[in-house]
Amino acid sequence: MATTDWWRSAVIYQVYPRSFADSTCDGIGDLGGVIDHLDHLGELGVDAVWLSPFYPSPQNDGGYDVADYRDVDPLFGDLDQFDRLVAKAHEAGLRVIIDIVPNHTSSEHAWFQEALRASPGSPERSRYIIRDVPVNNWGSVFGGPAWSRMADRGADDDQWYLHLFDATQPDLDWTNHEVRDAFLSILRFWLDRDVDGFRVDVAHGLVKDLDAPDVTRHDADVDAETRRPMWDQDGVHEIYREWRKVLDDYDDRMMVAEAWVLDSERVALYVRPDEFHQTFNFEFLTARWDAGDLRKVIDDTIRSTVGVGAPMTWVLSNHDVIRHATRLALPPGQERRNGLGPKHPQPDADLGLRRARAATLLMLALPGSAYLYQGEELGLPEHTTLPPEARQDPTFERTDGEELGRDGCRVPLPWQADEPGYGFGPTEKTWLPQPDSFAAHAVDVQSSDPESTLSMYRNALAVRKEHDLGTGELEWLRTENEVLSFRNGSITVVANAGERPLSLPDYGEVIIASRAVSSEVPPDTTVWIRHGQSQ
Ligand code: NOJ
Repeated sequence: MATTDWWRSAVIYQVYPRSFADSTCDGIGDLGGVIDHLDHLGELGVDAVWLSPFYPSPQNDGGYDVADYRDVDPLFGDLDQFDRLVAKAHEAGLRVIIDIVPNHTSSEHAWFQEALRASPGSPERSRYIIRDVPVNNWGSVFGGPAWSRMADRGADDDQWYLHLFDATQPDLDWTNHEVRDAFLSILRFWLDRDVDGFRVDVAHGLVKDLDAPDVTRHDADVDAETRRPMWDQDGVHEIYREWRKVLDDYDDRMMVAEAWVLDSERVALYVRPDEFHQTFNFEFLTARWDAGDLRKVIDDTIRSTVGVGAPMTWVLSNHDVIRHATRLALPPGQERRNGLGPKHPQPDADLGLRRARAATLLMLALPGSAYLYQGEELGLPEHTTLPPEARQDPTFERTDGEELGRDGCRVPLPWQADEPGYGFGPTEKTWLPQPDSFAAHAVDVQSSDPESTLSMYRNALAVRKEHDLGTGELEWLRTENEVLSFRNGSITVVANAGERPLSLPDYGEVIIASRAVSSEVPPDTTVWIRHGQSQ
């Protein structure tokens, strides 16, 4: 493998282990399933895999409630299997990055169990944010209050603890040096097992201004436009400077911040040379399918990241948002809802897929690093009509069904159209029901179809590599309204986000198109044009 700054131009594929592939017949995906399907990632042509949490956990928040940071949940496998996965991925030329969840532990973590048994004011309690009374009016991201009683979890006194997420996810107190030291050692534990990097969960949340005046919006909404006392406090940066020193003791490792900060100037602070290598670009993910909005986000990204020497990153889907094959067909204003139910008008699936393919081709031609979420290469839509009894995201329960939650983007993948459970595992069991529409999206159906979304991803990733688009430079070309057009080395990209067809510019040969083009580029279509000899 190349040894320098691989992450600057890497395409990184997110595996959400529960939903990728099941090798043990329990209907839940696992590390064995990932090993069995590494060839899929090889054929797709990505550079790295990011594994969402696989740690021991009561699974109240899909594993983002970690009970032990140094092991694998038996649901997913064991440490030996993890080592095999890393070794096999490396043999196949794929890097592996894993999720680290430092903002909170599970309430099942030994530390919180000790805190429950210990008395107020004890060192055991000082690892968490525990007070005699709730010291502010904050709400949980998942709905309801962010403060719960220690007594609710079994303590026999009247103190309260803070949890920005579920009540079974108590927030750690990052002013405590024992907490800081423990995470430095956890990083080394996994670096010594040869992981190539970390995706850091809620990277913007570790430091809180608990004494700030009460918030006016009751929830801790991650979409809030302004800085809030629980997010993006300046104190987080010194934590990551310490982490970076640990990573720098090893060759070629990276870390990427999950920081839901939309102001690109604030985002840039996380990728200063002695902090994160990358941060997710949520401004891009939340942009509408609109040429003006997209161009602004791309320009903002260039300005803010290149200035500090960091690579740009791009992402359209992950396990927390409505899949982009559905989101991009929603009316403005609805895009941020976490899932749509029967009450909501169903989005137009064809329009969504057309726009998703066009947006993906636009993204994969941009210089920098790109993140893909499992199933987007199949054009999977959000499962919008999951029955209430199937839903598992704590958001659903904590908001009394008001917010449907994120289960709709976490449905087990379809591998084989004619197998039970669409080949997710050896049996028909899947931990969430799959919609009938998944048959047409199965890997085996799409593999042999040159027009399929899977073939488009494979082709685009091959051309991206061949033409070094990830390390290229973007040069805007003169465009009409509703059209984005830029050049990256020998490839020119034209994306028609408008409602009218556009004459195909005469730059050279169209080598990839998100939809068939003739002398015109239809609406909701992106094409890649390779320059002719004369260009
Ligand atoms: C962000 C993760 O992506 C999400 O799935 C999780 O629920 C929260 N952080 C809390 O860990």
